[in-house]
Amino acid sequence: MRMKATIVQVLQQFCPIPLDENMLESPVHTHLGDWALPCFPFAKELRKSPIVIAEDIAKAIDHPLIRQAAAVNGYVNIFLDRTTIASSLLQTILEQSSSYGASNEGNEETITIDLSSPNIAKPFSMGHLRSTVIGNSIALLLEKIGFKIVKINYIGDWGTQFGKLLTAYRKWGNEEEVKIAPIETLLRLYIRFHEEAEQNDSLNDEGRAAFKALEDGDSEALALWKWFKTESLKEFQRIYDLLGVTFDSYNGEAYYNDKMGPIVDELAEKGLLIESDGALIVQLDEGMPPCLIKKSDGATLYATRDLTAALDRKATYDFVKSLYVVGNEQSLHFTQFKKVLHKMGHEWSECIQHMPFGLILKDGKKMSTRKGKIVLLEEVLNDAIALAQSTIEAKNPDLLNKTEVAEAIGVGAIIFSDLKQHRKHDIEFDLASMLQTEGETGPYVQYANARAHSVLRKAGETNAFMIEGVNDFEWAIVRMLGLFPHTVKRATDELDPSIVAKYAVDLAQAFNSFYGNVQVLSDSAHRFYRIALVTCVTIVLKESLRLLGMQAPEEM
Ligand code: ARG
Repeated sequence: MRMKATIVQVLQQFCPIPLDENMLESPVHTHLGDWALPCFPFAKELRKSPIVIAEDIAKAIDHPLIRQAAAVNGYVNIFLDRTTIASSLLQTILEQSSSYGASNEGNEETITIDLSSPNIAKPFSMGHLRSTVIGNSIALLLEKIGFKIVKINYIGDWGTQFGKLLTAYRKWGNEEEVKIAPIETLLRLYIRFHEEAEQNDSLNDEGRAAFKALEDGDSEALALWKWFKTESLKEFQRIYDLLGVTFDSYNGEAYYNDKMGPIVDELAEKGLLIESDGALIVQLDEGMPPCLIKKSDGATLYATRDLTAALDRKATYDFVKSLYVVGNEQSLHFTQFKKVLHKMGHEWSECIQHMPFGLILKDGKKMSTRKGKIVLLEEVLNDAIALAQSTIEAKNPDLLNKTEVAEAIGVGAIIFSDLKQHRKHDIEFDLASMLQTEGETGPYVQYANARAHSVLRKAGETNAFMIEGVNDFEWAIVRMLGLFPHTVKRATDELDPSIVAKYAVDLAQAFNSFYGNVQVLSDSAHRFYRIALVTCVTIVLKESLRLLGMQAPEEM
């Protein structure tokens, strides 16, 4: 049973105008009803005042799910039959378990998601963290509604910077250091290259030559580059393991290095390629800078590789949608490269969607993982885990599997604080407040779930239940549980995980006030029904957290 959808279907039988779920409003005060249907939009078509329409509908309503319908100032206020609704909803959730809220809207069609995509030999940045976390949650959400998802980690592993890095390594690097701390060492070499190149321009020539050799397949250069890549990916993998994120493809920029010829030819054949100062460009609409395809020395660019990758993805996966979870600052790049595909006559370029996101701020300033002393993301994650660990030591020292739980809480706190706001917002990074167990935090939701599990552990056996009345605390939970499918639908329509994050907080809140006010186990008349209710809370909280990419420990 999908509660909101069901209510709309019921109301439809008594309403002459087609209804949809978004027309139903939640009254601010529960004493006004469980749902309200505003009749103002119908006035024109029915040529009656909203007040009269509301009265007509209210009078006509006669259905076992609806206890009472009242017309008030152009609204039909609806009071549901709590017992009937609660018993059918709980039954549904217990039966469907984690697939409650799922659908087959996606029809097994494919959506590709370009996410994470860090650059090798550089620290995994806060921006890449956001891309990973947001992209992963969107993938989980779309999977839940029946799409086939392909998660692509488009590693940044090609470009002139690698010529510079090779040069720096040959001059000042050594194998041992790279082995011990690959990214830190390579980054230091890269920075040193830039510092020295300011004094000595010939270094830049050496760098370019080294990249040319790499592009031409020089085996010594390739071997070094491969080694840097392997070492970098090992470091990234530790972060992905902590975050619990996996990928279906790691085809990055280098993968497309030898595959760009055909697209450059196609652009030329279609008369789109123009020479400008020795470079090859595609002219775009006025006001938009041209898209650079080849530099004057023949080197290809970021856009050339992205175009090639897009064509390859279309051919390989035949996607119905192709999402790119990449920061705001690359908006122009995505507009340009979509435009180029469009000009080439690829209508499916419409299915490409850049999903930009804001910055992570520290004290109001862009948080960087590389300025001054190098702060690596892995350290940030480990700090969060350590903080969670010390809270556990203080509050629940006898907890089994403390390390796993601390990981779930620490990492979950970071994920949740990222996803609770719309991705376009900048977010302030403050570990201590992310880890609070009060307020809109990951630990708050996880803690509510663990509390529900502790009730279930105490309860022991469960049994068939009969519902004899639903009090306000219980009803608040039932309402929230009933809204879960609608929440998943909204989050997937809008590709916005924050809708699920907010929902999880609301459900946790409803559960906490129930827990604080209702004797769950000691009242034998309601015992089994309440156990069922709490079980449903754990099912839906866990599933909400899973959709955000978070764990739901049963004890904390
Ligand atoms: N590696 C790029 C960067 O760190 C992000 C790549 C995003 N994906 C893409 N298809 N362009 O800025």
